[in-house]
Amino acid sequence: MKERIDALLADIESLACKTEKEIEEARVRLLGKKGEITRLFEEFRTVAPEMKREYGQKLNQLKNAAAAKIESLKNAVEENVSASSASFDLTKPGEPFPLGSRHPVSIVREEIIGIFRKFGYNVAEGPEIEDDWHVFEALNFPPEHPARDMQDTFFVTSGHNPILLRTHTSSVQVRAMESMPLPIRIVCPGRVFRNEAISARAHCIFHQVEGLYIDENVTFADLKQAILLFAREMFGSDARIRMRPSYFPFTEPSAEVDVSCNICHGKGCNICKGTGWLEILGCGMVDPNVLEASGIDSKKYSGFAFGMGVERIAMLKWQVKDLRNYFENDLRFLREFETSI
Ligand code: DAH
Repeated sequence: MKERIDALLADIESLACKTEKEIEEARVRLLGKKGEITRLFEEFRTVAPEMKREYGQKLNQLKNAAAAKIESLKNAVEENVSASSASFDLTKPGEPFPLGSRHPVSIVREEIIGIFRKFGYNVAEGPEIEDDWHVFEALNFPPEHPARDMQDTFFVTSGHNPILLRTHTSSVQVRAMESMPLPIRIVCPGRVFRNEAISARAHCIFHQVEGLYIDENVTFADLKQAILLFAREMFGSDARIRMRPSYFPFTEPSAEVDVSCNICHGKGCNICKGTGWLEILGCGMVDPNVLEASGIDSKKYSGFAFGMGVERIAMLKWQVKDLRNYFENDLRFLREFETSI
């Protein structure tokens, strides 16, 4: 019996079945009801009692070895099958992976920033949740100043120097003046929030890019030149600008800037409402009070600032008539900008 067990062990060791059918045949031959190992177990009953212990152990080893071998042969065959199945056909063409596209507001924001980078401006950012000092007070809006009504505000806390959602990115201008070495030449892109009723022309969330340049001897002529160069880069080399006197608490003098209508080239159409001009931004010379509030010597330094709405520029660029389109994320709208990346 001992020899037969050893012979079977060697036999199991060298088993090399390649198909499921061959494996099943080997299993039946060894472990089936009439299989060789099953028969040995029957014979075991007749083994002399003093040999039972030794033979019992050997038989169990044999049975376990056979079961393990068959299991591992099965696994090998299964792996082969899945490796060669159709899902691993490396010659198949790839599945196209649909690429998203930039949001039109991002496209225009990047374009605005890119233009000012070329002019030597750096990008500065600040918090969306701000205090009253940075949004209003340091920008020459004292408490109770009627100009605060120009910007309906979402307040987070009340009391002294309340916390609020910034109504304009001019707050970043203040942070820059407080912390950056002079001269300063920055653009500040960001989201702003106003308590406005949502309509085709207004939204409670929108984006601005603020610009600020402070140095010795900065004049209104520098401001005009910067805005003209920007308008030409953004709206085409034949773009013209005009400035209308305006009011902002933080600039003196202040102006609103119109660009010649890029649809009708000044002849008058329904986009420019027949005027030939489109309003694009507000600007002015930084008020000395604002410089002093941030610790800058207004006798030595002067500067200009400007601020524009990104959605507004995007609407003019693509003649989008309803601002709400930018916030609804309707794929049919967003896909129109796929080639504009
Ligand atoms: N902060 C103004 C607004 O939100 C825009 C603006 C106007 C910014 C004039 C400026 C500026 O820096 O000089 O309506």
